[in-house]
Amino acid sequence: MYEQVSHSLLNDILNRIKPEISDQDLRHFYTRLGANFYGLHSLFQTLYGHKEDFAEQAQKLVETMAMQYIKRPAQLRQLDLERERDYGWFLSQQWVGMALYCSGFAGNLKNLEQRLNYFQELGVNLVHVMPVMRCPEGSSDGGYAVSDFQEINPEVGTLEDVRKLAKSMRERGILLVLDVVVNHTSNKHEWALRAKAGEKKYKEYYYTFASRNVPDMFEQSMPEIFPETAPGNFTWDEDMERWVMTVFNEYQWDLNYSNPSVFIEMLDIILFWANQGADILRLDAVAFLWKKIGSTCQNEREAHLILQLLKDCCQVTAPGVVFIAEAIVAPVEVVKYFGEDAVIAKECEIAYNATFMALLWDAVATKNCCLLNHSIKNLPVKLERATWLNYVRCHDDIGLGFDDRDIQLCNYDPVEHRKFLIDYFTGKFSDSHARGLPFGQNMKTGDARISGSLASLIGLEHALEHEDHQGVEHAVKLILLLHGMIFSFGGIPLLYYGDEIGTLNNDSYRNDPYKKGDTRWVHRPSIDWQKAELRNSPGNVEFEIFSGLKRMISVRKEIEVFADYNNRELIEISNPHLFVFNRYHLQQPQEQVLVVANFSDRPQHLDLDNLANWRNEYRQLVDLYRGESPEVFKNSLVIPGFSFYWLKEV
Ligand code: GLC
Ligand code: GLC
Repeated sequence: MYEQVSHSLLNDILNRIKPEISDQDLRHFYTRLGANFYGLHSLFQTLYGHKEDFAEQAQKLVETMAMQYIKRPAQLRQLDLERERDYGWFLSQQWVGMALYCSGFAGNLKNLEQRLNYFQELGVNLVHVMPVMRCPEGSSDGGYAVSDFQEINPEVGTLEDVRKLAKSMRERGILLVLDVVVNHTSNKHEWALRAKAGEKKYKEYYYTFASRNVPDMFEQSMPEIFPETAPGNFTWDEDMERWVMTVFNEYQWDLNYSNPSVFIEMLDIILFWANQGADILRLDAVAFLWKKIGSTCQNEREAHLILQLLKDCCQVTAPGVVFIAEAIVAPVEVVKYFGEDAVIAKECEIAYNATFMALLWDAVATKNCCLLNHSIKNLPVKLERATWLNYVRCHDDIGLGFDDRDIQLCNYDPVEHRKFLIDYFTGKFSDSHARGLPFGQNMKTGDARISGSLASLIGLEHALEHEDHQGVEHAVKLILLLHGMIFSFGGIPLLYYGDEIGTLNNDSYRNDPYKKGDTRWVHRPSIDWQKAELRNSPGNVEFEIFSGLKRMISVRKEIEVFADYNNRELIEISNPHLFVFNRYHLQQPQEQVLVVANFSDRPQHLDLDNLANWRNEYRQLVDLYRGESPEVFKNSLVIPGFSFYWLKEV
């Protein structure tokens, strides 16, 4: 859009631009800057227009984008052009991801590069390498307390290793996802150290207070994220003699985004990582970016404006790079991270589907899909050019963030039901073989979350220990069933490393003084590569799970209607053990795949007569996953216990 004020500001900026920028061939950069400048300027103005040095900051903003564009390697600029043409590239059903810790998976970046064939063997072509940036020794929240955003943790390697890894991945068609921890820094970051030393400029990078007055105001409405290990949201700093806002751990200092310098620094870091070869950047804890007294300090409007501005700027410098929003918040809030009032994503193209994840676990515990069906119906429709990350487990805990009204619709009491789930997954419930641990128990509110590896939560650990063959069989079936859901729901499925070979809980974190207070470490394994070899030997759980997933991945890639174009229709059925949805082709609606899942241990039936578009007595069905026709008696489809189908008409 052409608008005089922003246009004349752009002219001023370009007239004053540094010679090292004006001397370059920046054709594509200027085209994109011109196209985005109106939006970019309005956002920057809304957030920082009242600052005295606004014009200077606007100049710096444009120069930051331009300098990173100049540094952007030719190959990546080429990729930008290709992705600008094929703008829906990340919606394809071809993508299948895995998240991992570099150290736990391979030890270091060089070894990770050596292991790329493992991903190819399984069919994974998108790898999220969790934070590898420099962190202080000791506690670092698994890499999420960064002390230098542009250096690599020496234990895992160097920047050169990252660039080499990115290149090898690109040659093999594997996407690289890296984190940018945008909400906070470690208290050992240079900015924090300079703030501690009294430098005014850096004090303004954080929220610090001389007295408890403001912190106490904030505390009245802010929840606690780590109530056991880091109660409260402020930490007293001896050196500064001030309270610092620390929403997560006390060594993670929240950045002050009301300061435009902070915004520009973090933009520079985002673009820096784009230039190291990341295809996708995962922006950590984005719900927390803006703090306001009297609010929960989550999902504030300004947090969205900051993300929109980051997106606009990234589109100018590195338009091929997309963002993942890590916002583990209620469904109505999470869809806003795609950007509101738009068709295409204006904030983050991808967001974690934590709701679906938690609902799948509810179905496991209850062997029933009541809550899953009700809540999925209420999941707001998302934008067209935006997609979910669907997952079963990740490096974090499982939160039970269901809507109380949905729980009530299933005739459960919300408090009792959540308590049941915690008891179930921590193995306290009489019928349960789960081996999870509570996480983030809050004595004041009664809240709790759950840690534990997929295999241990699902009962595999218990079954193996008791040589319970049927238990093992059930656990394996459930692991495949859960993946059958995230592979077909719509979005990018994201496996969690180790789950593909049934990795159990690992208690060794209890001996580490820096980890023992945080039960999430129980499910952050070091892969035993010798044991992983068992994936090649039939008769082992490693083989059963790995080969099942491998098949599922290759079949998924062939099913075009699994690409995410909001082409899913939930089918209401009367049998509460079943979860049924249809995936269809937008242009040819008769092209469809019916997904049917049975979360009960017993066979269930589905009356094919009453399925809206599926009514046809003479229809011959095939389950694409197994390549076989399912059992049908008269017109009842029979679904064995803990099983699923991807059904197509033949
Ligand atoms: C993100 C990470 C989590 C970390 C938190 C604070 O949510 O996934 O592991 O504890 O941010 O950085
Ligand atoms: C909370 C935060 C999320 C973080 C998690 C870590 O759920 O919202 O961002 O990953 O805590 O446990």
